[in-house]
Amino acid sequence: MDLKKLPRHVAVIMDGNGRWAKQKGENRIFGHRNGVQSVRDVAEACAELGVEYLTVYAFSTENWSRPQLEVSALMTLLLKTMGGELKTLLKNDIRLSAIGDIDALPKSVAAELHDTIAKTAHCKRMQLTLALSYSGKSELINAFKKIANEVKLGNISTDQITEELIAANLQTAAMPDPELLIRTSGEHRISNFLLWQLAYSEFYFTEVMWPEFNKEELYKALLDYQNRERRFGKTSEQLSPQ
Ligand code: IPE
Ligand code: IPE
Ligand code: MG
Repeated sequence: MDLKKLPRHVAVIMDGNGRWAKQKGENRIFGHRNGVQSVRDVAEACAELGVEYLTVYAFSTENWSRPQLEVSALMTLLLKTMGGELKTLLKNDIRLSAIGDIDALPKSVAAELHDTIAKTAHCKRMQLTLALSYSGKSELINAFKKIANEVKLGNISTDQITEELIAANLQTAAMPDPELLIRTSGEHRISNFLLWQLAYSEFYFTEVMWPEFNKEELYKALLDYQNRERRFGKTSEQLSPQ
């Protein structure tokens, strides 16, 4: 691994908890519980290597449509995990952050989240962002509304609506865009994750189910990323002239 060629920001669509559990004859919640260890492993590995931002898709706005029992089990798991992980986050110097409609979460979950975010705010090694009740389209709609309001108030003109202004009005304003997106479980779609921010990311898909994704699997993804040529519209010859 070339540590000088690491992505600064890795985004992950953690998928396959339910199918993994079903294969084992267990219920879906068992899969979610086992998925927590994968988050720990990946966060630790990223911090150790020097990745600065790790953003994980933990719950989409669409996931609210799952059976009530599964939704409440996920919320309980989230609540318990956050409380238990504070020590580890502090020890590893990892700052917690969140994107999504946090107000839509149960009050206890939102409170625990705000508490952990505040207690880790000084941590410097890496930022771990949880996407919770997150929708890429909603994030864009909210940004457009804020900008439209500024135009209406006469604070900016429409000519001032640029890429930078839109990015600055997203919840990810303080982060670089992810250079690498990982999705597990063999599904090849974005599922309403970071739509704007993934415009030029490298995508890495693996058949591995999220509960089985570990440090080794992360290294594979990073190595694969390092072997890609990111051309940004240019030709290969322009990037490495003879
Ligand atoms: C990902 O695993 C976790 C969440 C979306 C909360 P799934 O729960 O989507 O598992 P599968 O895709 O049904 O196997
Ligand atoms: C995407 O996974 C959301 C999260 C990983 C939290 P899903 O399993 O909900 O996505 P779809 O429905 O298969 O696209
Ligand atoms: Mg899924």
